[in-house]
Amino acid sequence: MIEKLIKSACGAAKEAGELIKKGFGTAFTIYSKDGKNNLVTEYDKLSEKMIIQSLQKDFPNSVFLAEESGSSAFTDEDAIRWIIDPLDGTVNFAHNLPIFSISIAAEKNKELLCGVIYNPILDELFYAGRGQGAFFNDKKISVSENADFETSFLVTGFPYNVEKNPCNCIDHFVSIIKRGIPVRRLGSAALDLAYVACGRFDGFWEINLNPWDLAAGAILVKEAGGLVTQYSGEDFKINHKSILATNGKIHKEVVETLRACDCGMDF
Ligand code: IPD
Ligand code: CA
Ligand code: CA
Repeated sequence: MIEKLIKSACGAAKEAGELIKKGFGTAFTIYSKDGKNNLVTEYDKLSEKMIIQSLQKDFPNSVFLAEESGSSAFTDEDAIRWIIDPLDGTVNFAHNLPIFSISIAAEKNKELLCGVIYNPILDELFYAGRGQGAFFNDKKISVSENADFETSFLVTGFPYNVEKNPCNCIDHFVSIIKRGIPVRRLGSAALDLAYVACGRFDGFWEINLNPWDLAAGAILVKEAGGLVTQYSGEDFKINHKSILATNGKIHKEVVETLRACDCGMDF
């Protein structure tokens, strides 16, 4: 079952990736969603349609939670639910910056069964299945070994509403970067998580994310041997918005640093 889900999600991600790659750098339509810089393009919509059609063909009784079309109702509580971000990193895509991905996860009875993240520009495919490990272009991957927070390499992101968000993650960013620890901001949360899973980064944190940004990446990091929690260090669920994903070894120190921030965030 899990193998079939992975195969189907990888197929759908590759197919949509082909489409997005063709559209990259062309004159496509860009719309603003909520907020001046929260963008959506015609490729977000086309990609989502293509992914849903493809998954529906393989799993006709599926239900969906997809960024652009919302959620469909459960007809059967045992149905597979696909959680889809058809283009994660839309702002990069809209500015012709080749850092973006497609993110697809499957869950059943609220438990994640598999996750797939695909960067069509680099042809990098990450996938994981529950209890089966995590893979990058078909090779098994694991999180980094670095246990030293001071020499770690981290990545974060900032929500679209950072202007209005009183407990914004700028404070968290500042408190870590001031220690001289390198922190990147790539603009695709799904890729950030895939890169923690394969050891490129030692950790990632962000607030105000949605299930479609997080679901596939969370299972990838866990299956690669990493740790995924909320900022507080408490158990993570895909609708929890705040996420901290690390190699496990630096987790405690990152939690302490985030919690020590006097930014008014309610942990
Ligand atoms: C965004 C990206 C970005 C993160 C934002 C997300 P989108 O998703 O993942 O890295 O900082 O919070 O909303 O809008 O490009 O699908
Ligand atoms: Ca996203
Ligand atoms: Ca998106």
